[in-house]
Amino acid sequence: MCGIIGYTGPREPVGVVLEALSRLEYRGYDSSGIAFFRDKGEVAVARASGKLSRLVEALEGISGLAGSAIGHIRWATHGAPTEENAHPHRSGPIVLVHNGIIENEKELRLDLEEEGFTFTSETDTEVLAHLVLKAFLESGNLTDAVRKGLEKVEGSYAIAVMCEARPGELVAVRKGAPLVLGEAGGEFFIASDVPAFLKWTRKVMPLPPEVVATISPSGLTLQGSKDGRTVSPRFEEVPWDPVQAEKGAFRHYMEKEIFEGPRAIMDTLEGRLGEDNTRVFLPELVRLGPNPPEIVFVACGTSYHAALLGRRMIESLSPVSVHVEISSEFRYRPLRYRKGAWVIGISQSGETADTLGALDLARREGFLTIGMTNVAGSSITRDTEAVLLTRAGPEIGVASTKAFMAQVTLVWLIALYLGRRESREVKESLSGLVRAPARLEGFLGSFDSDAISLMARKILDSRFVIFIGRGLDYPLAIEGALKLKEITYRPADGYPGGELKHGPIALVEPGVLVIAPLIDPDLRPKELSNIREIEARGGTVLTIGPARASKEFSPSFPLPDCIGWEGVFSASSVLQLLAYHAANLAGTDVDQPRNLAKSVTVE
Ligand code: AGP
Repeated sequence: MCGIIGYTGPREPVGVVLEALSRLEYRGYDSSGIAFFRDKGEVAVARASGKLSRLVEALEGISGLAGSAIGHIRWATHGAPTEENAHPHRSGPIVLVHNGIIENEKELRLDLEEEGFTFTSETDTEVLAHLVLKAFLESGNLTDAVRKGLEKVEGSYAIAVMCEARPGELVAVRKGAPLVLGEAGGEFFIASDVPAFLKWTRKVMPLPPEVVATISPSGLTLQGSKDGRTVSPRFEEVPWDPVQAEKGAFRHYMEKEIFEGPRAIMDTLEGRLGEDNTRVFLPELVRLGPNPPEIVFVACGTSYHAALLGRRMIESLSPVSVHVEISSEFRYRPLRYRKGAWVIGISQSGETADTLGALDLARREGFLTIGMTNVAGSSITRDTEAVLLTRAGPEIGVASTKAFMAQVTLVWLIALYLGRRESREVKESLSGLVRAPARLEGFLGSFDSDAISLMARKILDSRFVIFIGRGLDYPLAIEGALKLKEITYRPADGYPGGELKHGPIALVEPGVLVIAPLIDPDLRPKELSNIREIEARGGTVLTIGPARASKEFSPSFPLPDCIGWEGVFSASSVLQLLAYHAANLAGTDVDQPRNLAKSVTVE
């Protein structure tokens, strides 16, 4: 995980790097650090353990010389989150930041120690600093030193390197970890992700793997790290609005992003429906040929929950059978799917190591792979046969909200695409999807936040919160539980309603809260009988469902009446807001919950 940033240009660099790091905090926040030229030929390094605010405090009133600077925000893998282990790491004049994991770190460290290098941290990164120095002492050329220094390194890395002897120069390279370049009229940025420099430029180029980027006062050059071939830079303008990456009037990114749900759905639909909204266009899939016999979704966390909804939707509207697999489990199993199956990896970030690994395995086994992601240019887009982009805009809060809405939109579109256009089910379902964003917007606009706060209070009063659901409500239940756990740290779990009797119902007693989304019209009677079973054992049940869906119950939190699947969006928003309000009441760090990081780029 971790986030890295590099800058060279005429601006005062400390302010630029600290601001860019604040946009990368979602990638990790155990410690942070910066290197910049304080005087010609003297690189100053400042590091702090804990949140970025501690580094900002430490640097108050300090500025650097225009030229190059690098910064890092860490999610600890090798070594505790102490100041010594914080990046940048230094070896003589070489100073660098790194995101990734060096797999042969131990043996490289032993070799270097034998050669007389001393280590001051427990990180794998320090090995890289010494290796680059060793090569730099031989050639005196920073680009060559990076190429040569990394020759024996195994694992994944994205690094940005500067050198005391070369102010204004910055060298970067990546393998298996993301890195993007930004250009703004002669000044350059290097970052783990675009939002880091979106404030200054939208001209972006993903750095291809194993290509060394050298930025010097004379501009940018790109060179193959193995063969030295010249690569031409190709920058493209990203459509992201810098304001999308700001908090605005909201207290947290998560809250803002929940309210951006309708926009995420609308933007994801944009250009994918015919003029009269009666057809679905997914040219990315047309290129793959006829419908596959099977689809296999691979994903983690919230993206996995979107895939579960996708399975239900695709199997309802088309004859294609669907499997949904957790990426980290899929990677280590024989793949016995039908010939011609599509393997679709869903990943907001496009950088989740397990999902990339799962897709890589599927490709090697001869399946067609498709990457569904929110980040154009991310690793998943480079390694798959087709790419489907969700268009939620930058998602900063660690808890995924609007990206989930966009993922559900896209899997729903896939279901419609695979279904028979003339069928009544497809037609009705499509019109439900078309009206979904406006209806969600209306719902969120007239939202009863008092009712949510009341429910949030009940959540905090409960020892354990159980989420249940059947059919479409099951993925919502486990997503609701995940959201609650990750930002409130309260024990919560989601179960299929029918499974309760097979064990989890033993947890039910007075004082235990059960939350039940009830938007699946087909299974509602069965869900209601599960609720009665819980109430009979003293559990308190909060239901989230359409106001007039059934004569037998009135939901604790009523949703607008809906036909079909639109309720998925409103119920998800309620579950997201419930977790959000409960976290606020609990006083946790909503946007940066403990131990988590936005992109899980390690296995
Ligand atoms: C969601 O709230 C989580 N933070 C997490 O489960 C996330 O969905 C998961 O890590 C997958 O990330 P990806 O979509 O970027 O692959």
